[in-house]
Amino acid sequence: MTTPLRVGIVGCGNVALNFHVPAYQAEPERFTVTALADPTPERLELGRTTAGLSPDQVHGDALALIAREDVDVVDVCTPQHLHRDLVVAAAAAGKHILCEKPLAATPADAAAMVEATDTAGVVLGVVHNYLFFPEIVAARTLIDDGAIGEVRTVTVDMLGVVDSPGAAGYRPQWRHDPAAAGGGVLMDMLHGVYLAEHLLAEPVERVSAYVDAATPGDAVEGLALCRLESARRAALVNIGWGFGPGGIRINGSKGRMVLRYRDEGTIPWAPFEALTLTTEAGTETLDLPTGQELASLIAGALRATIADLADAVTDGRAPAAPGRAALRTLEATVAAYTSAALGRSVDLPLPTDGPVHRHGVIGLAELDVPATSGVRTRGLFGLTADPTSFSDGS
Ligand SMILES: NC(=O)c1ccc[n+]([C@@H]2O[C@H](COP(=O)([O-])OP(=O)(O)OC[C@H]3O[C@@H](n4cnc5c(N)ncnc54)[C@H](O)[C@@H]3O)[C@@H](O)[C@H]2O)c1
Repeated sequence: MTTPLRVGIVGCGNVALNFHVPAYQAEPERFTVTALADPTPERLELGRTTAGLSPDQVHGDALALIAREDVDVVDVCTPQHLHRDLVVAAAAAGKHILCEKPLAATPADAAAMVEATDTAGVVLGVVHNYLFFPEIVAARTLIDDGAIGEVRTVTVDMLGVVDSPGAAGYRPQWRHDPAAAGGGVLMDMLHGVYLAEHLLAEPVERVSAYVDAATPGDAVEGLALCRLESARRAALVNIGWGFGPGGIRINGSKGRMVLRYRDEGTIPWAPFEALTLTTEAGTETLDLPTGQELASLIAGALRATIADLADAVTDGRAPAAPGRAALRTLEATVAAYTSAALGRSVDLPLPTDGPVHRHGVIGLAELDVPATSGVRTRGLFGLTADPTSFSDGS
């Protein structure tokens, strides 16, 4: 029997306490949580009791956790603008890392994390947990088996996303702060971006998008309609807070797949209902387990994510979502904001010396965003309406 990996969790917010701690506790032969860190005292104490730790195992300062000898893996569960310093410090201390999505709020931060972990020779796995949803695994297997021929298009609709607040006691509205979140609903649900690329089965090379606020005056977008192009294929990714429809459709040269969720709702709030495969031979419904409600679905996907990380550490192989792949997902997301602001397609990778690579969505302010751009007129991401656009009345 191998010794369990000793895990230190940084950030005791909703995702850490509702999903990460229980996932580790469900696999005691593989993991033991040895430490927690959070500067918010009430979250740290809630974390301590949830994980069943003693006061000497919890820290207000994450660097004290990272310095502990009884931590093999640092699991970073803070909001994304804080990921970089934590991951770089953990890598320098020789720890393997699991980091929540998005990898960072800016591509530059994410690139620094990838470089630090590469240099240190440690594993950086990112929680792209929707990759493990049973219907996604089944769809990708069918694609790899050639069941629908060559993939042509993928459509991911997630227009019924619930706008969940962060933990009370910290900053419940951080997801609406462009500097902290790096964007709005698209950034929070970039699950849709990596799922689209995963189902295209080709790297995304070009992005175009439209974004809008859910509520006038909001600083981040609540609706994003994106087109992701790979060398020979394209995906439409539509994500929004509200009550819009959800579902995934894959169109191939020899057939199609349709993934349906309860009441045409959005993954993972609406449980999976059916995957149908249509080819010349007719339509069949795959024999997949009934979809689960959100809590058990996310819990299962988190258990698969940590098991994958443990295998990557023990077998010396890449995890399902390595840092470099998560950096590409983040770049595609930031490219969507750039496209919406500039009104044109944006190529990937983003230039590393450009403002949006360095500062993410905040860097849009340094670009020549037209006065007529909806992103500017709606005041998204800190951009302000340009008074010259209204000056001559023509
Ligand atoms: N993969 C998923 O399905 C999923 C689901 C929810 C959230 N997330 C991601 O998890 C991360 C956290 O989200 P959340 O909903 O738990 O947020 P949250 O607001 O509930 O919790 C954030 C926590 O981080 C703590 N924190 C702040 N600064 C810290 C620091 N320097 N060191 C340690 N802790 C610090 C806060 O005190 C708080 O307890 C985000 O990146 C989010 O995108 C992923």
